[in-house]
Amino acid sequence: MAYKIAIVGATGNVGREMLDILDERGFPAREVVAVASRRSQGIDVSFGDRTLTCQAIDHYDFSDVDICLMSAGGDVAREWAPKIAAKGCVVIDNSSAWRYDADVPLIVPEVNADAIVGFTRKNIIANPNCSTAQLVVALKPLHDVARIKRVVVSTYQSVSGGGKEAMDELFNQTRAVFVNDPITPEKFTKRIAFNVIPHIDAFMEDGYTKEEWKVLAETKKMLDPKIKVTCTAVRVPVFIGHSESVNIEFENPISAEEARDILREAPGVLVVDKHEDGGYVTPYESAGEDATYVSRIREDATIENGLNMWVVADNLRKGAALNAVQIAEVLVNRGLITPKKAAA
Ligand SMILES: NC(=O)c1ccc[n+]([C@@H]2O[C@H](COP(=O)([O-])OP(=O)(O)OC[C@H]3O[C@@H](n4cnc5c(N)ncnc54)[C@H](OP(=O)(O)O)[C@@H]3O)[C@@H](O)[C@H]2O)c1
Repeated sequence: MAYKIAIVGATGNVGREMLDILDERGFPAREVVAVASRRSQGIDVSFGDRTLTCQAIDHYDFSDVDICLMSAGGDVAREWAPKIAAKGCVVIDNSSAWRYDADVPLIVPEVNADAIVGFTRKNIIANPNCSTAQLVVALKPLHDVARIKRVVVSTYQSVSGGGKEAMDELFNQTRAVFVNDPITPEKFTKRIAFNVIPHIDAFMEDGYTKEEWKVLAETKKMLDPKIKVTCTAVRVPVFIGHSESVNIEFENPISAEEARDILREAPGVLVVDKHEDGGYVTPYESAGEDATYVSRIREDATIENGLNMWVVADNLRKGAALNAVQIAEVLVNRGLITPKKAAA
């Protein structure tokens, strides 16, 4: 069986990565179409050794599409996901527009694949925020064994999480520093080159940012509503790869050695934790990789049953495109979707 797939946002960071991953993993696609805004109509994007010409979303008929992987921001998702879903096409959306809807499953396949069956209510499945995706991949196997009570996470998020314009801003500002040109922040609120910014997404009434709130709301929805989570989200001058310093308090005892052993067996996780120079993973090394890397696993002697760890992943892959393709694979492998047309 082979499926017709549409990539909405195909010219963006995540969309291009989705095309690469569909090709790399040999997804059973009979046809893949690239869709973006009117600005990109006629633009070519690569899909393996082929080239796809972008169609404008307003003019595209999704009637014979089986699965739509959408990564075009919240406004596009709010308007278009229900319209596309109404054509009988399952939408897997990367924005935050549908993540908190009780009728839309929020899925990280290593964590809560079984919840996917709820997709039939709206024909929409949500992909989590990039920081949450890698966090829950690392937390789930530990929660299963020792029950997590509370998580304190500080994120070090790369600029690619803000889209292609944000990557250009880091590049241009870095260059401007070296040639002594003036720097004017546009996408970021302050200079990002050679700096860090403790602010991602909008401020909320309680002083937290929306990005910080997403991590706790999504962890509760996917892993366990009883887990307490608090987060500080920080943008750092790294192009690709989000890092997280994670402090976990468990109900039951768990040693660093036990946690290392559990994580070594966990799906999607790679433990790199040698107590020597370079015996850990940095975001630069995670770029282009599928794994969620866990390093620096230590017992926290200041609390009962506490651990610290360092979690790194490619935010465009596990944080977005890879996770979305894995969700599509769950739909296909579990026989939850039948292609509208047989392969030619
Ligand atoms: N980057 C990450 O780490 C990450 C992680 C998780 C989730 N996400 C989410 O994924 C989405 C895309 O992120 P990104 O990093 O790929 O952004 P991006 O590089 O800025 O790309 C945005 C894409 O959306 C398309 N688009 C914009 N307005 C559109 C419209 N009116 N109609 C149709 N297409 C439109 C753009 O097409 P044009 O080129 O034609 O403008 C482009 O293909 C966002 O919702 C983001 O929150 C991103």
